[in-house]
Amino acid sequence: MTSPSTQVYPVIWHEDKVLLIDQTKLPTKYTVVAINRCDDMAQAIKTMIVRGAPAIGVAAAYGMYLGAREIKEKNRDVFLNQLEEVAQKLRQTRPTAVNLFWAISQILKTAYETMGTVEEIKASLLETAQIIQIEDLQTCRSIGDHGLEALPKEPEQLCLLTYCNAGALATAGYGTALGVVRSAWREQRLARLYASETRPRLQGSKLTAWECVQEGIPVTIITDNMAAHCLKRGMIDAVIVGADRIAANGDTANKIGTYSLALVAKAHDIPFFVAAPLSTVDFKLATGEEIPIEERHPSEIYQVGETVICPPGAEFYNPAFDVTPAELIKAIITEQGAVPPEELHKLQIKESF
Ligand code: MRU
Repeated sequence: MTSPSTQVYPVIWHEDKVLLIDQTKLPTKYTVVAINRCDDMAQAIKTMIVRGAPAIGVAAAYGMYLGAREIKEKNRDVFLNQLEEVAQKLRQTRPTAVNLFWAISQILKTAYETMGTVEEIKASLLETAQIIQIEDLQTCRSIGDHGLEALPKEPEQLCLLTYCNAGALATAGYGTALGVVRSAWREQRLARLYASETRPRLQGSKLTAWECVQEGIPVTIITDNMAAHCLKRGMIDAVIVGADRIAANGDTANKIGTYSLALVAKAHDIPFFVAAPLSTVDFKLATGEEIPIEERHPSEIYQVGETVICPPGAEFYNPAFDVTPAELIKAIITEQGAVPPEELHKLQIKESF
C-alpha cells in the first residue's frame, strides 16, 4: 500500500482531471481514481468512492465542470439548457447530503451570471469548483477552532466519541467533527478518540480510525452496540458527529445510528455536538421531518465483503441516515461559531440553492 502524507485530500484537481481517493478500498488499499467524465463522477458519488456531505459537494462541483466540458454546443442558451441536464444527472446520485445540491446550484449560478462565450463560462465553472473546494477547507479549520471553544472545559484532556466519518475524507480536507478532534489534539485537549464502527458500511472503523492512525491521534474502535456501555461507565466526555442536512430548527440528518447515540448521550447527561458547515443547513426545511432519507441496497447488510451473513428469505431495510431531533443537540458548530440549535437562524446564511 502506498502511504499518503498525513494531509488527506479526497478530491484533487490535477492535470485536467479529478483525482479521488477510492474510499471503498480503505483502509487496506490506498488507491486513487482518475475521473475525466461527468458520468464517471456521478457513478463515483453513487458508489461512495467519494462520500461525506462536503466532499460530495466538492466532487459534484467538479462533476458539473466535467459535464460542461463535454458539451460541444457554442450557443449560450442551448449550452445552459444542456448544463441543466448535467445538473439533474448529478442531483440524482445521493438525496440526503444537501451540500451536493448546494454546490450544483453554485455552479449553475456562476454559469448564468458569466457573460461571454461558452468557453469563458466553462472556465469560470472550473474556477468556482476550485473556490468551493478551497473555502470548504478553510471552513473546516474554522469549525475546528470554534469546536475547541465549545467542548467541555473539564477534564483538561477529553475522551471524545464520534460516529461515521466526518473527517478529511468527508470534506475538502481536515474534517468537521474530526476537524474539532484534530484541533483538540493539536491543543493537547484530547486524551483519546473513540470511533464507533458504524454499521453497515463501517466508515468509523475503516475511515475515521485510518485518518487518526495516519496522524498519530490515539483512537479506540468500538462496535456500535458498545456506545451505551462506554457512556454509562464515564469513559466519554462528549460526543461529536457531522451532518448531512440540518433543518432550520436544528434537526439533523446524519449517518444511521446517530439518533440512538444522541438518545444515549442525553440519558447519561453527556453533551452531544454536531459539527457542520453552513452549506449543510437547509433553511428551506422547517424540521427534520422533511429531510429525504436515502435507502441503499440490502447487500450492505447481508454481505460483509464477499461473504453472505444472512439467511436467504429474510427481508432488509437499509436507510442510510436518521434524523436527530434538535432538543438532543447541545450545540451546532459551524464556521461562524457554535450555537444551540434554536439560534441557528442567527448565523450568516450561505446563499441557498
Ligand atoms: O453515507 P456517507 O458515508 O456519505 O455518510 C457520511 C456521514 O453521515 C457524515 O457524518 C456526514 O456526511 C458528515 S461529513 C463531514
